[in-house]
Amino acid sequence: MKIRQLGGDIAGWIIDVGKISDDTSFRYQDVFVAGHERAYQIWREQKLADWAQLSQKKIIVLDSISKLDRSETPQILEQCNAHNFAIYQLNDAISEKELRPSLIKFCKSMGLNRAEIHRSQASDGIVSIQVEKHAIGTGYIPYSNKSLSWHSDGYYNGASKRILGMILHCVRDASEGGVNELLDHEIAYIRLRDINPAYVTTLMHKETMTIPENTDERSAYRPPSIGPVFFFNEVSGRLQMRYSARGRNIIWRDDDETTKARALLSEIMADDPMIVRHKLQPGQGVISNNILHNRTKFSHRDDESSTSRLLYRIRYLDAVNATNSNSMEANQ
Ligand SMILES: [Fe+2]
Repeated sequence: MKIRQLGGDIAGWIIDVGKISDDTSFRYQDVFVAGHERAYQIWREQKLADWAQLSQKKIIVLDSISKLDRSETPQILEQCNAHNFAIYQLNDAISEKELRPSLIKFCKSMGLNRAEIHRSQASDGIVSIQVEKHAIGTGYIPYSNKSLSWHSDGYYNGASKRILGMILHCVRDASEGGVNELLDHEIAYIRLRDINPAYVTTLMHKETMTIPENTDERSAYRPPSIGPVFFFNEVSGRLQMRYSARGRNIIWRDDDETTKARALLSEIMADDPMIVRHKLQPGQGVISNNILHNRTKFSHRDDESSTSRLLYRIRYLDAVNATNSNSMEANQ
């Protein structure tokens, strides 16, 4: 899993995920096919070595989000390739007005091009995650100050709208709380498979998790979402995850193996040593391949105050991928 730079005027960056080792002919997707034990073991060894060598807690400092340095883009790509997420920090003081288009360009430079159309988005596609009075009591917890349990984003989307990548950027943090926990879903996969390969096989079943149909307060209809928890996605070329720990409005496949696999997954998410806990500071963000994450409850001085917590979020039908990225030059 290496990154190399393409030459020429329109320089880009390539991540090799298609071949997992120089001494085998296995492809990355073979790892997730039941019975391909050798491919799995080689990939697992490399994956865990990456975690040991490249700190998942590293915060990559970007001098200017609108003018990425030549060394900064590959750092983020390398981090995302190894861990499925990267935490970054902007060094430049930038106005909120300038920040918004810069964030979108930044995402494009990481291969995130096809943004989800979301009902709460502004005209530029950015969703503001903040306390909304209208959301209180509606069950839309992201727009409240309540805690959010472990999930991947958009788990209720249909198969054609799977969220493969996303960015969360902190404009203002909360006075108290609002801490995120992050867990690379490939690590969760490894933990489960190491204990019992049948657990990952059962969570890859195409009817593992069903989110019933819904009609929201704006009369927008969403059909039922039926699908696996873990899946190999042909678009991203990666293992992806679709999950929510919520107890309500989720119908799980009714068999012992699914129940046991879910219980073990809950244990892993409770205290795995590879969980990263981080409270995003203003100017910091997480760019990811829609990894597992949660949020603690938070409080601030006044719901209507400009000091209340504000995060910008954009979700994509793409994963972080250098081969889909615009050139760095094009973003300068
Ligand atoms: Fe989320």
